[in-house]
Amino acid sequence: MDQYRTHTYDVLIIGAGGAGLRAAIAASAEGSSVGLVCKSLLGKAHTVMAEGGIAAALANVDDRDGWKIHFADTMRGGQYLNNWRMAELHAREAPELVHELEGWGAVFDRTNDGRILQRNFGGHKYPRLAHVGDRTGLEMIRTLQDHGIHQGIEVHMECTVISLLTGNGQITGAFGYDREKGRFMLFQAKAIVLATGGIGRAYRITSNSWEYTGDGHALAYKAGADLIDMEFVQFHPTGMVWPASVRGILVTEGVRGEGGILTNNTGDRFMFDDIPELYRSQTSSDEEEGWRYTQGDKNARRPPELLTRDHVARCIVREIKEGRGSPNGGVFLDISWIKNKMPHAPEHIKKKLPSMYHQFKELADIDITKEPMEVGPTTHYVMGGVRVDPDSQMTNLPGLFACGEVAAGLHGANRLGGNSLSDLLVFGKRAGQHAANFSKENKLVKINSSQLEETIDTALKAFNNTASSNASDQGPYQLQQKLEQTMQDLVGIVRIKEEMQQALEMIATLQEQLEKIVIFGNREYNMAWHTTLDLRHLLTVSEAITRAALERNESRGAHFREDYPLKDKSLGKLNTILRKGSDGEMLIIKENIPEMPEDLKKIIEENQ
Ligand code: FUM
Repeated sequence: MDQYRTHTYDVLIIGAGGAGLRAAIAASAEGSSVGLVCKSLLGKAHTVMAEGGIAAALANVDDRDGWKIHFADTMRGGQYLNNWRMAELHAREAPELVHELEGWGAVFDRTNDGRILQRNFGGHKYPRLAHVGDRTGLEMIRTLQDHGIHQGIEVHMECTVISLLTGNGQITGAFGYDREKGRFMLFQAKAIVLATGGIGRAYRITSNSWEYTGDGHALAYKAGADLIDMEFVQFHPTGMVWPASVRGILVTEGVRGEGGILTNNTGDRFMFDDIPELYRSQTSSDEEEGWRYTQGDKNARRPPELLTRDHVARCIVREIKEGRGSPNGGVFLDISWIKNKMPHAPEHIKKKLPSMYHQFKELADIDITKEPMEVGPTTHYVMGGVRVDPDSQMTNLPGLFACGEVAAGLHGANRLGGNSLSDLLVFGKRAGQHAANFSKENKLVKINSSQLEETIDTALKAFNNTASSNASDQGPYQLQQKLEQTMQDLVGIVRIKEEMQQALEMIATLQEQLEKIVIFGNREYNMAWHTTLDLRHLLTVSEAITRAALERNESRGAHFREDYPLKDKSLGKLNTILRKGSDGEMLIIKENIPEMPEDLKKIIEENQ
């Protein structure tokens, strides 16, 4: 058997973005020995792409806000498919954890009387996003990292986990390799927390960087944990569309929160054309009123640019499809127009949106204080993921926990912007605490050596394949490109049965081709090998997304079916569960959402 190094911990955390770091801090605070594995360098995580703020009902800018309204907004945004208990815990606990972060040194923008400043975001009734300019996620990571490294957590950077190991009906460890030398690593642990983030790299246009290949989703599924609601993939309405090399990079919703408007090539503010019933009473089609809302007028209603992301993304796609797009295949997002409304607008924009100013200046030679940006939807987030217990974050596989984007439930059919950062604080902490408790109550379980051997054989297969077995003559990069294009074109923002069936066929073909890939050279710095291993995860999550999307014959939240454009009331009561069958097939099970308690129902009724 190949050589590997062994590390043993009470709790192993896989993924070191905000959720993983918060979980590691919590587990370590409980006295557990903690190992933290990151695929990339510590601090490089998709958390930084939540730029505009952390959603928490601090009520610093509007004292009418409170956890109940945040809860109701989150449920409405998720079209009531959310796990209501997670939505409750999240709304209740987020404010305290933002204050905790502040206590650990996070810098925030301030109100005139010195409290944490909050801004408007889509679907949030009141200004709720605690922020520092448009770099909030970055500040959160910096703070958690600074705090975390003093807790005695052992960090393994540039390490990819390729398999979870099980025995006695519970988790026993994880197996991976260091990306630099290609050496194998065995992690033995009493409890494991998955915090690996999302799946963005399954699509061609994405705000996600190379790490986000759905590793945690696929690892959990293959180890026997359920996935839930994988059909719900969030396409953030505003990514850069030009230059082509930076297509997909995020343009924060904070631009619209600060008054930015969307227009088409005829200069029309097209978002006025389609305000959904669910939000009609809260949304204004009067330009002046919308502007007053973004400037903090408590009596004004929101502009339609601050409707939920699913809706805004679809309106943008409609404009582009119907020939009213911008020259490079997007629409226009304009914040420069506020010069008509306020003196010193350029300075104001640079202060509120410093990263956006630099991003467009440096990457596209556009001065956003003077001219509009070109933007279009970009794959940003997956609402679906590993099914967890709402209080403990444990999966149905004992000892395996999940938190942050890889875990599902909180966001239902569509996530509100800013809820991701509060999600990872609330549930990162809970996952870390409960994993630590589990590790106190359970012993290490012996690693199953045949499972380990099989993992190693699979990992090295591409080195042992012979060139003649690769009939398709396709390398891993070509396969990944084909997959991204397939998902983008056939399982994207607008879906239809026949196209998704084609996608499934292509995924099956790519799966066959993957088995025949031939990798040359050795394991050191071998990117082709890394991509081959990532592809296994990507194909699993792509199949899960497509099967779940085919199964949901309605349009709800981020899942839009051209062949079923309306909501189906009965499907609004059902979650989609994906489970690995005994022959390795992907089973789909529809399950009723548990009945919501009366007190929570009342909160929703009172906050329609
Ligand atoms: O637009 C943004 O700043 C993204 C925030 C989020 O995804 O939560």
